[in-house]
Amino acid sequence: MIGEYLEGVLAPVDDELDFFKLPVQGEIPEGLRGTYLRNGPNAAFQPRPGYHLWDGDGMIHAITFDDTGVSYRNRWIQTPGLGAERKAGRALYGGMRDREVPPPELVGDVGPVKNVANTNVIRHQGRTLALWEGGKPTALTHDLETIGLDDFAGQLVGSMTAHPKIDPVTGELLFFGYSPIPPYLRYHVVDASGKLVRSVDIDLPGPVMMHDFVVTREHVVFFDSPAAFDLKAFIQGEPMIRWATELGTRVGVMPRDGDADDLRWIEIDNAYVFHFLNAWSDGDQVHVTGASADWLIIDYKNDVAPPGIDPSGYLCSFTIDLARGTCKKARIGELPGEFCKVPDAVAGLKNRYGYLATFSTGVENGANFDSLTQYDLESGRQTLHPFGTDKIVGEPAFAPDPAGSAENDGWIVTYVHEADGSASEFVVLDARDFGAEPVARIPMPRRVPLGFHGNWMPPAP
Ligand SMILES: [Fe+2]
Repeated sequence: MIGEYLEGVLAPVDDELDFFKLPVQGEIPEGLRGTYLRNGPNAAFQPRPGYHLWDGDGMIHAITFDDTGVSYRNRWIQTPGLGAERKAGRALYGGMRDREVPPPELVGDVGPVKNVANTNVIRHQGRTLALWEGGKPTALTHDLETIGLDDFAGQLVGSMTAHPKIDPVTGELLFFGYSPIPPYLRYHVVDASGKLVRSVDIDLPGPVMMHDFVVTREHVVFFDSPAAFDLKAFIQGEPMIRWATELGTRVGVMPRDGDADDLRWIEIDNAYVFHFLNAWSDGDQVHVTGASADWLIIDYKNDVAPPGIDPSGYLCSFTIDLARGTCKKARIGELPGEFCKVPDAVAGLKNRYGYLATFSTGVENGANFDSLTQYDLESGRQTLHPFGTDKIVGEPAFAPDPAGSAENDGWIVTYVHEADGSASEFVVLDARDFGAEPVARIPMPRRVPLGFHGNWMPPAP
């Protein structure tokens, strides 16, 4: 099983490269200027037996569009754990399947857990942060050199989710951290100057793996789904997290300026929303969209869903009525999909369009995205952009067109990989004509592994 995470499209690369003036097929739109940063696992050393895809060392791949053309750069995130392993010349840390603890004399201050910084990369007020939900963010320079762990000048207690939200109106960075020991959930607000100004401890009935959350202009929304930590079972050699259906799922809504006492919990049928698309508030109603699955597969031991239960995510809406205390779920997506994205400018505001990576041929073809879908939430139209079943598509990102003002004035960019991992290209689609041929394709001079999350960064002012 370990090999599957190191082969084909997931095979790590072993070099850090810079390429300039990459050949382009088609034409780069005049307004497309900026950098797409994408993070993902890229094991630097042959991993130890407990390796899971989530354990790979973080590596950032950057594609920059400027007046000189298109350039590419990739760099490992030089985490303290990777530093200890480089010193030893081999992998020291186990994986999340066994949590092998390395000998303290080999890792020193780094401790028993390796913060791999491999999940997402954001930029807030000029700071570039690589994120991993089990620990603190890692600060990078614009050139992708690692600065080090960043705890917001000592103010951040605990970990930081890989899915923070930036309020496009206030410029605040909003996030949470979860922990297997109390307090199980903490909510944090970083102001527009980059200072962590507020933290709220939140009580949950038990510790859960909470991968994402969502905010509106008025509310913060948490899904307390039963991806439950079981430390006792873990000590006995069982998985650390289990899908504990008997614990149920609750949606919690807290006013943005509220406290834990103001959190309103509403029970819903079991659901795991790995990634939210967006949310907005309208009086007592909070509208949430995200890729929701009825069953969570963590893949510790080739686990599968019970017969008759589809573990795929589908774009769904959750309409929360705070006056009535209800939450109504409805499926939107026709195809299974994940990796949800809206333009940064509409985060927390009512949006019309959303973008997901989708499986156009169904999950029987393997858990590989072969297409992107644009969802028009007003008309209900779902526009598929298929790349072919011999391709695997990464998460979409939205690059706004500075000459436009409509929500879909811009381009969707992503990596498209040969399914066998032999090559990758970077693709630019026009969000205004989503089903049309790409406006530009940039074959990568060296394959880029399939990764996790990325974001479009406008050019530095
Ligand atoms: Fe994620």
